[in-house]
Amino acid sequence: MDGNGRWAAAKGLPRLEGHRRGAERLIETIDSCIDLGVNTLTVFAFSAENWKRPPEEVSGLFKLGEWILRAHLARLERRNVRLRVIGELAALPEFVRKPLEEVIESSRNNTAFNLVVALNYGARQEIVSAAKAIAADAATGKISADDVSWSVLESHLQTAGMPDPDLIIRTSGEFRLSNFLLLQSAYAEIVFASVFWPDFTKDQLQLALAEYSKRERRYGMTHEQVQTTQP
Ligand code: FPP
Repeated sequence: MDGNGRWAAAKGLPRLEGHRRGAERLIETIDSCIDLGVNTLTVFAFSAENWKRPPEEVSGLFKLGEWILRAHLARLERRNVRLRVIGELAALPEFVRKPLEEVIESSRNNTAFNLVVALNYGARQEIVSAAKAIAADAATGKISADDVSWSVLESHLQTAGMPDPDLIIRTSGEFRLSNFLLLQSAYAEIVFASVFWPDFTKDQLQLALAEYSKRERRYGMTHEQVQTTQP
């Protein structure tokens, strides 16, 4: 959800106002995804590297996170949305961690839509944790080195049990993945939108989906093979 700060600066507003507008845009985007038949949305809300920002911005972001969750909880419940978080939730302030944990638990059986919020998340950190867990299993003889496979590694990632992203959208004209889902995005299509996140409307989402639908996903095969293997 990149570009909140620049959106605010362009309008002569404080950065946090950009984040507030960005948080509202997120709620609208969840509705748009449900309307358009998307079943899982993962948003990068706070990276493991975002702690480097000024402390007022960091605490403002967490307050905003807690507020947006509380303000839209009934709506999320009504729309049968399941909330999950990836990242190190334990390091977040209790006032935001606790309500998040409560909603993760209370929405566990919701089935219409999966909202995954990456909070204090970094793909490299996630991979290191997975490697440590597998190494610990190897040290105690629970697994042998030869048994380590992609499916074993995948099952130790924070996204275990979730589908890999089909489409990654980066807003604000930046062309980077910035430590987001590095392994899970191996075959993701990437669309770069030039608008700042607060301006990422349903029309923008539809444009990104239209671009995605034009892509040919070959997974290492040739164009001809893909043509004959697809329905
Ligand atoms: C990136 O824009 C956006 C963020 C770092 C925060 C986005 C999070 C929300 C909108 C949701 C609410 C927050 C939480 C913690 C649940 P930027 O600040 O990098 O924009 P810039 O590149 O234009 O400065």
